[in-house]
Amino acid sequence: MELMDKLGESAGCIAGRLGSLKPQIAIVLGSGLGDLAESIEDAVAMDYRDIPNFPVSTVPGHKGRLVTGYLEGKCVMCMQGRFHYYEGYSMEEVVYPIRTMHLLGIRSLFLTNAAGCVNTAWHPGDLMLISDHIKLIADSPLRGQNPDGLGDRFFDMSSAYDKELLAAAEKAAETKGIAVRRGVYMLFTGPGFETPAEVRFARIAGADAVGMSTVPEAIAASHMRMHTLGISCLTNMAAGILDRPLNHEEVLETGERVKASFTALVREIIRTWPEDKL
Ligand code: HPA
Repeated sequence: MELMDKLGESAGCIAGRLGSLKPQIAIVLGSGLGDLAESIEDAVAMDYRDIPNFPVSTVPGHKGRLVTGYLEGKCVMCMQGRFHYYEGYSMEEVVYPIRTMHLLGIRSLFLTNAAGCVNTAWHPGDLMLISDHIKLIADSPLRGQNPDGLGDRFFDMSSAYDKELLAAAEKAAETKGIAVRRGVYMLFTGPGFETPAEVRFARIAGADAVGMSTVPEAIAASHMRMHTLGISCLTNMAAGILDRPLNHEEVLETGERVKASFTALVREIIRTWPEDKL
């Protein structure tokens, strides 16, 4: 089956379950934020495995559900659990849900993640709004035949992260008294953490954070001219900055420590999402 037909089938199945719900913001909940989906009101939850053509999540602790309903007065569709390239999915599979949500009429995308901190003036637990990204790996979700029904073959990436959304998110942080950084996220494929030399390279290249997600989704969203906001929870200093090994537990522990403020910020951002981007 052609990609557009598959997407149409997935979107049709989801739309059938949503009834009168009309989601306006797609949210991808990264490590540590999955609980937010539990507080969605009037929720319609669908397991990925029940949606035709959807990939299925393999990471322990990552739920695989699409939860739609109301959060802070906005109708949102949350991915509770995302697909990572390191799991073995193609880039096209990684972005499949984003494309499906676009077909459902959603124009705004809110990406969250956990990332390693490359900027030595910052600290574990800091929250960073993504102003731009660097992807040096060769693959792209748009490699191959262009799905003309979604966007152009060659497309602009200069506003991949919407400036108005960035400004609104900074305002939301100020309202809540939560400190946020603004910085550049660099994609590495993982699943191994980066080497110290790779982290030095990332810093010289202009990155403030490194991570294993988000970039494919932001690229697919740009292709479809969606309005994207990204935010990283910097859970650890990236490899080689501190004189000790990295582990996944540290990532989870910091995520747990800042969960309350991260959640409060995400909620305020949703509450004040600019009307013209909905
Ligand atoms: N590197 C890549 N991805 C990550 C890291 C890291 O240090 N921490 C959390 N996700």
